[in-house]
Amino acid sequence: MTEEFGEKLTPLPYRIALLPGDGIGPEVTDEAARLLGAVSRLDPAITFEVERLAWNADYFLEHGTMMPPDGLQILGEFDAIFLGAVGDKRVPDHIALRQLIFAIRQGFDQYVNLRPVKLLRGAPTPLVDRTESDIDMVFVRENSEGEYSGVGSLEYAGTPDEVALQTSVFSRKGIERVMRFAFDMARARHQPLQSISKGNALNYSGVLWDRIFAETCELYPDVEAENLLVDAAAYHMVRTPERFGVVVASNLFGDILTDLGAALAGGLGFAASANLCPGKEFPSMFEPVHGSAPDIAGRHAANPIASLWAVGMMLSDLGYAHWERWILDAVESVLLEGSWRTPDLGGHARTRDVTDAVIQALETSQRLAPSA
Ligand code: NAI
Ligand code: MG
Repeated sequence: MTEEFGEKLTPLPYRIALLPGDGIGPEVTDEAARLLGAVSRLDPAITFEVERLAWNADYFLEHGTMMPPDGLQILGEFDAIFLGAVGDKRVPDHIALRQLIFAIRQGFDQYVNLRPVKLLRGAPTPLVDRTESDIDMVFVRENSEGEYSGVGSLEYAGTPDEVALQTSVFSRKGIERVMRFAFDMARARHQPLQSISKGNALNYSGVLWDRIFAETCELYPDVEAENLLVDAAAYHMVRTPERFGVVVASNLFGDILTDLGAALAGGLGFAASANLCPGKEFPSMFEPVHGSAPDIAGRHAANPIASLWAVGMMLSDLGYAHWERWILDAVESVLLEGSWRTPDLGGHARTRDVTDAVIQALETSQRLAPSA
């Protein structure tokens, strides 16, 4: 097929694996898929082939594992992965999360977990007198080792003498690469960088982290960088959020501080994340930060915004950063208009209605755009 014959070349679709998971996971994943459909309608040059893989608690109860033995091979064929959330009381959490989410993050070397903590216009923050310009940071969480490397043992299990050993693994390579990713990002965003550790108490891992931070500072003299202890960082995030720009943290510290960040930026319904394999040897994975929220599952009450934002991050990673911006603009216009709010925001809208409103806002803005 060539253009000589007047035939239009059809762009190859991006192959996206959807892992809906449990609880509200499938509900918000459906919304993500609908947004992808809308993007493709509005921009026919971007097409998707979406495949759902039902690797969740039901799958575990039937097969004894969260994914098939060749699960990573199957996922490796896709351009990107979108995950809803996993967690069901019939399966121990540490098994479900480790066999699926951690297996993918570590197996695909997704060593950066990018988590924006950005207050959208129209989103509620519990901080008094704070606005969007005060809360605009992004976390670069180390995602492949650290406290979550899964090394350790349980000795004398089930006896009064039982002892749990949970070993953190911090490698020079692992710290250097995530540190450089964060410094590059701070440079590109013209923002200051904060490195989070606990070098006063963690006398091996914290000290190595801080030393590599100091070395990396030398390589980026133009980036304004500071080192904060994790407890102090939690304090300052609440008192002076405007101080924060690009925040680089270990797996556990990044996990905890980004839940605090989610609370500052409107709640878990707004927290999106990307698990990036920066070298692109493997697909990256995009997901809302929240879990399966069994307390609201099946009630059409889940806020889909975190999931829609994660779609934006996925499009950005695929080379369409403008689509992430447009999606966030559309979300902001819906929030400001105020009619479509899920119960976590004090409204009565259903999950689906919010997505519909966002898609409608996107359609309107595309119609009005000069180039559309
Ligand atoms: P959670 O994030 O599921 O829920 C915490 C609270 O926030 C609940 O009150 C829930 O209703 C609310 N919430 C969460 N997402 C929401 C949304 N989109 N819209 C409105 N409200 C929302 O955390 P929880 O309750 O600690 O864990 C529930 C299950 O999820 C557990 O099995 C846990 O292991 C799992 N989990 C899975 C994660 C993942 O798949 N990435 C991450 C965190 C937890
Ligand atoms: Mg978390």
